[in-house]
Amino acid sequence: MVNRRQLYNECVGILKKYANPDAEFDTLCIFQDIFNEKNPLFKPMEAVTEKDEKIIREYIRKRSEGYPLQYILGKWEFYGYDFRISPDVLIPRPDTEVLIENVLSICRREGMTSPVIYDLCSGSGCIAVTLKKEIPSADVYAVEISKKAVGIIKENASLNNADITIINSDVRNPELIKNLENIDIIVCNPPYLTQEDMDTLQKEVTFEPELALFGGADGLDFYREITEKWKKCLRNGGYLCYEFGYDQHEDVKDILVKNKFDNISLSRDLAGIVRTVTAQKI
Ligand SMILES: C[S@@+](CC[C@H](N)C(=O)[O-])C[C@H]1O[C@@H](n2cnc3c(N)ncnc32)[C@H](O)[C@@H]1O
Repeated sequence: MVNRRQLYNECVGILKKYANPDAEFDTLCIFQDIFNEKNPLFKPMEAVTEKDEKIIREYIRKRSEGYPLQYILGKWEFYGYDFRISPDVLIPRPDTEVLIENVLSICRREGMTSPVIYDLCSGSGCIAVTLKKEIPSADVYAVEISKKAVGIIKENASLNNADITIINSDVRNPELIKNLENIDIIVCNPPYLTQEDMDTLQKEVTFEPELALFGGADGLDFYREITEKWKKCLRNGGYLCYEFGYDQHEDVKDILVKNKFDNISLSRDLAGIVRTVTAQKI
């Protein structure tokens, strides 16, 4: 029977052979999951059961084929909260935590203790659920077109005990928008990849749903449509907050300016890339 240390070394070796730069981290995450321990290598000599070894080897095989670790584990952490993740939803990215910080800072600055917040294109619900946890008196709505993703948002709301309203709809549906008004904050991380991006996707990203990625030929379809259609739903003084892709900030800013938004402010992610914008309806 193999012990934990032996199996760990072997797994790291396999992932390194496939040029995985995070071989140690990925193997550790898999071990933590299987043994349900934070530090599984504190017991290096512990024998691994045949059943656990078989699962670990299967996970490592999938990982060596480029299948994302988050889908293998079926869960991931975002802003310190646990989320269930499946291939039906985009994997929550640390970049998106900047968007959370933007919304929290607006609420602090403007003294909004119980804002009405709409999270458009909600995916796993990571934004909506996190905002509800961080601002418990907020009235938070999550809008998502994919039925399967809506199932995941429900699971994540319940997992985190977050009382949010989930709407299964196209954000471009005029019926949805017709009677909406006085929203304090609209937050959105829409699909923003261009056709060229889609044609040259990194292997790992090819496992994520196309519906979550493709934003039209120039990647800006959702910014144009949402800004135009949802502007009337914001109260005067309300905010529209977007995440966008690399080098899209000037284009998204132009769309906001054309739609007469004011106090436009850009933020960078941890890698120094301009990643989000907040803009006020005046
Ligand atoms: C880039 S993902 C973002 C997911 C999540 N907000 C996040 O930050 O991790 C975009 C999401 O928009 C959804 N979506 C695509 N088109 C949509 C539409 N017309 N109406 C509503 N949701 C849409 C996709 O299914 C996907 O879940």
